Amino acid sequence: MAPTWVKQCFWTLAGTGAVYVLSVLALTIPVLQRNATYAHNINPAYWQNLSNVEQFGFVHHQVQPFTVRSTNNVTLHAWHILPAHLYREHKEKLINQPDFGLKPFDEAAEAVGLRLLLDEPNAKVVVSFHGNAAHIGSSHRPATYQQLLSTSTVEQPVHVVAFDYRGFGMSTGTPNEQGVIDDGIAVMSALCGSPDRLAATNRSPSLSHSSLQPSQIILVGQSLGTFISTATYHEWTIRLQQAPFKALILLASFSSLTKLLDSYSIKGFTPPLLSPLTQYPYVQNWIRQRIHDKWDTASRIKEMLTLPNMKLDLSIMHAKDDWEIPYHEGYMNWLAVEEAVNGTGTFTSTHEDLFYPEFTKSWVSDDGVKMVRWDKVRHGGHNRLPTSEHLKVILYDILERQ
Ligand SMILES: *[C@@H]1O[C@H](CO)[C@@H](O)[C@H](O)[C@H]1NC(C)=O
Ligand SMILES: *[C@@H]1O[C@H](CO)[C@@H](O)[C@H](O)[C@H]1NC(C)=O
Ligand SMILES: *[C@@H]1O[C@H](CO)[C@@H](O)[C@H](O)[C@H]1NC(C)=O
Repeated sequence: MAPTWVKQCFWTLAGTGAVYVLSVLALTIPVLQRNATYAHNINPAYWQNLSNVEQFGFVHHQVQPFTVRSTNNVTLHAWHILPAHLYREHKEKLINQPDFGLKPFDEAAEAVGLRLLLDEPNAKVVVSFHGNAAHIGSSHRPATYQQLLSTSTVEQPVHVVAFDYRGFGMSTGTPNEQGVIDDGIAVMSALCGSPDRLAATNRSPSLSHSSLQPSQIILVGQSLGTFISTATYHEWTIRLQQAPFKALILLASFSSLTKLLDSYSIKGFTPPLLSPLTQYPYVQNWIRQRIHDKWDTASRIKEMLTLPNMKLDLSIMHAKDDWEIPYHEGYMNWLAVEEAVNGTGTFTSTHEDLFYPEFTKSWVSDDGVKMVRWDKVRHGGHNRLPTSEHLKVILYDILERQ
């Protein structure tokens, strides 16, 4: 007879193993998998009032809320945020709007705030694609918008548009890969009034507000948002044949969800899911094949880079102390760039050494139409990186380029 403590250990271990196996099996079910990866049901909008923007650090009527129609009868909830200097200049008119509030984009476009964006050809707008869980007003997100807005000048005003994907915050529906890409396209179509399949639902013929040029729009994605912003850029330019955007910035990116799970197990970082199965590659593959939403960023970047003449100004940035998505994941996107351009164009890189492991690599195509930059910074973790001065410096560089 084994001593009692041995039995206890055995049953504890067996119990842990059974829970692990059951959890992994459960996660192969699409609904549960999407709940775990998008985490959209962690939704503080159930108890927070997203219309009360003062609690998120903005001033009265600085934020014009609006809705955008997407595919599958989804209604997205979005914010247009004015830079503080424009708010100050137009404060009277902003706070005296009689019917201020949440409106469909076409009606909101007639409001004071959005007109300051749509009627100003020098204006730029950063569209924010947030990471998984919660909503546009959660945790570091408002601070990110404020950081982006702080690059605004009188000559070149910078506005922010933030939106929740389907199933997040006050947006209806439930997320899946094509759905959230459609959501990105829907927001771009609303802003640009573009003649694609979605514009019809977002545009009523009686209203004739101005629209933006894609070259006025900068996409910034963080974490999950790096995939959605890249896929939106890809679909917009390649499938819908629309003009390219001004730039794309990816913060804490990864090459694909399948690779993310892979590298966690192979390279020995915190093993969230598949590493206990390293001895069973057959089982690992079986699970990988059951990843429904692949979130493949790298192959989209590669495809965009191999298209001649299409403008692409891409910045990929990752913090060395990111413990949620290790920086080598973002670096895989840079490696995809190197592979795609196959020695063409011009590469530059700053000195990389052991004691100051912070560096930048960049690449410009021979015709100067495409440029990519990789920044590895020492601090910023996963969530503070978007609020960093590093991001601001990169944004200034982009705003300066014509
Ligand atoms: C949410 O906030 C807005 C703006 O402050 C306010 O008008 C509205 O009544 C609030 N809604 C609820 C349900 O408290
Ligand atoms: C579309 O969604 C709205 C509310 O979000 C709902 O009232 C309506 O029934 C839906 N229509 C269809 C065709 O599903
Ligand atoms: C990459 O470049 C090399 C040398 O210029 C060339 O031989 C090769 O075919 C290229 N590969 C691809 C996939 O374009």
